[in-house]
Amino acid sequence: MDIKNMDSKKEPEKLYPSGYEPKESNNADSSSDTNVRNQLLNQILKSSPTEFINTDLFTVMSKRRSTRKFTDKIVETVKIDKIIAAADTAPTAGNFQGFEIFYVKSPEKKQQLIEACNNQPYVNAPLVLVFCKNPSRVKMNFPEEILKKFAIQDATLAAAYSQLAAQALGLSSIWIGMFDEQKVMKVINTDLIPSSILCVGYPKQNKFPKPRRNLKEIVHAVW
Ligand SMILES: Cc1cc2nc3c(=O)[nH]c(=O)nc-3n(C[C@H](O)[C@H](O)[C@H](O)COP(=O)(O)O)c2cc1C
Repeated sequence: MDIKNMDSKKEPEKLYPSGYEPKESNNADSSSDTNVRNQLLNQILKSSPTEFINTDLFTVMSKRRSTRKFTDKIVETVKIDKIIAAADTAPTAGNFQGFEIFYVKSPEKKQQLIEACNNQPYVNAPLVLVFCKNPSRVKMNFPEEILKKFAIQDATLAAAYSQLAAQALGLSSIWIGMFDEQKVMKVINTDLIPSSILCVGYPKQNKFPKPRRNLKEIVHAVW
């Protein structure tokens, strides 16, 4: 490899949509270890877990059903890695990844989370991930209010990707939105505001998906 020539090559100028120009150049795109990080991400995503139920996206979607009763079986590390890696594949505003994931391992902290989540007992699941908003990562020239809106969308999408990944890996989950933000922040020791908590494990029972509204009622055609 001709390092000398590589050095002399000018980086092509980056073009951003109006308003999306980064304030600082510390986004994921320009970070020097991007390549290493992406290699790790790809490696985790492509690695084979022990078994799959079905990884066809639409089958995964059609079979997912919330679970509030989990067996004691621990979730294998290889699956946890994939669930977390899936979150990292979600789109984020400007690719600034305005979210953080807190992986709650301590049984004592899980117990405290139950109380912080309106005494919902299933928050003590084998795998508990708290998704928090981090608007300070979103380096765009928009008002603070917009950056906060981006961060909540980033964190929500990340959690949704993890939830689908859990289903694809033969696990089940429950999305927790009912919690006292301050209490959760105290338990996980952060200043960042949580957006959702994903509780994952092996379901005690496989249930049929819940009914939904008629699609025709949901869609409003706009001409
Ligand atoms: C924003 C949001 C907040 C939720 N909060 C809770 C919660 O605090 N506790 C709970 O038991 N389920 C919670 N759920 C799960 C829903 O009750 C569940 O997804 C819904 O009943 C549909 O069932 P399904 O996921 O099996 O399709 C929440 C789901 C969403 C999307």
